[in-house]
Amino acid sequence: MMLFSSIVFFASGWLVSPVLGQTVSGKWVGTQRVMDNGETNRVFLDLQQTGTEVTGTVTTIGHIYEVKGTITGSHFELFSSPKDAKPRVAGDLAGNELHLTRADDHFIAIPAKPGDEYPPFLHINQPALHDVPSNGLANSPPMGWNSWNLFQGRIDDKTVREVADAMVTSGMRDAGYVYVNIDDTWQGVRDAQGNLRSNKKFPDMKALADYIHSKGLKIGIYSSPGPRTCAEYPGSYGHEEQDAKTFAAWGVDYLKYDWCGARMIYTHDALQAVYQKMGDALLKSGRPIVYSLCEYGSGNVELWGANVGGNLWRTTGDISDTWTSMIANIEKQVPTAPYAGPGHWNDPDMLEIGNGHMTDEEYKTHMSLWALTAAPLLAGNDIRSMTPAIRDILMNREVLSVDQDPLGKQASPVKNGDLEIWVKPLADHSVAVGVVNMGDAETSAIVKASDLGLGTKVKSARDLWRHSSVVFRDGLYTANIPAHGVLMLRVN
Ligand code: GLA
Repeated sequence: MMLFSSIVFFASGWLVSPVLGQTVSGKWVGTQRVMDNGETNRVFLDLQQTGTEVTGTVTTIGHIYEVKGTITGSHFELFSSPKDAKPRVAGDLAGNELHLTRADDHFIAIPAKPGDEYPPFLHINQPALHDVPSNGLANSPPMGWNSWNLFQGRIDDKTVREVADAMVTSGMRDAGYVYVNIDDTWQGVRDAQGNLRSNKKFPDMKALADYIHSKGLKIGIYSSPGPRTCAEYPGSYGHEEQDAKTFAAWGVDYLKYDWCGARMIYTHDALQAVYQKMGDALLKSGRPIVYSLCEYGSGNVELWGANVGGNLWRTTGDISDTWTSMIANIEKQVPTAPYAGPGHWNDPDMLEIGNGHMTDEEYKTHMSLWALTAAPLLAGNDIRSMTPAIRDILMNREVLSVDQDPLGKQASPVKNGDLEIWVKPLADHSVAVGVVNMGDAETSAIVKASDLGLGTKVKSARDLWRHSSVVFRDGLYTANIPAHGVLMLRVN
């Protein structure tokens, strides 16, 4: 470990200041944390330092990634992509130790010994492609709640039961939000027969499913085609049929299947076959289970998502509770419009409405855009403590009926300065129109019936947020729209 570099030349041939002293070059190992299922997440680093530049690989229980970064004095920061907002791993070289920070955990790594590396994974060949028959589910975009956006790893049986109770008492269930979906971090370890168990936060998954069903709701769960999930818990790799059977036996009605850990094994070429494998397994389980593909929009999923039995597929990376993230996600959804329809939907990710970092006006826009694009509506907030304003946004029946319209068309936008106009044809030959003010100041918008394919003949129109009729004069309707706000109409 004790390397003393003399003079370092970069590829350009420029002479840079010599770095004196110890470097981070070498193999290091440290224990990041004991996970909720009792497993230890060890982090193994293989680093090379040249001058102030550091490159290498970081391997954990669930991920392998190449890293690149710099060291200044004793402090280094390593990134795995230029898009990383913060370092994947940061740390300080302290004598013969690395004092590391990864995902908010602080821990120490020491020089690794032979055998400290993780063993390589067995590569399982994928089946030949075929069409998985439709499961007949999700004739309209699925509606419900998911634990991830707000609770992340802090989700447990008690919270899920309380959310289920609140889904009923708040009116969410009766408005159509029926799925109560547990995202990542529920997993335990496999038993001697290879059956995946839940961890201590979820002592009895079957009992939880029974409780959720007793409330007239349905339960969703989460896994990965990889050996590990995004949060590094066991995935379904090599256990697809067994896990589908377990989920069916628990009474699971919905599976979100998240690519993440599959990156340790496959490139994107394998996406379709990998997702097909679980599509087949779910059908074979004999239980109707909505199949949600989570692959961040990669591999042109809209072209094959329905062929692998998918009822919805992600068109984007993860949403966060900001206007910029929400708008970026809906924009990525646009090219996929032709592929939405009953039974198979484009998913721009779950709702952030009510999580506190957008204004109510922005949340109305979020809701309107998801409804206009026939997106799945999975609330991501704390249903137990919603404000009346958030309740009204999530349960606006007139907006929900646009999302759930049986024709299943996904609106596309037309841009006009700061205004974006989204038009969604509906089954009763009316159209839903959303005019979004992307700008930072209130502005006036003119909606032209002729732009909606309605000529000048408007029989009736309603403002879906004001819940009142509006009148088109000579085929025109004018309204003021606040900054980041929306005008949403249903026009006959
Ligand atoms: C990925 C998914 C998220 C969530 C997390 C859980 O990032 O895209 O929606 O499921 O994994 O770890």
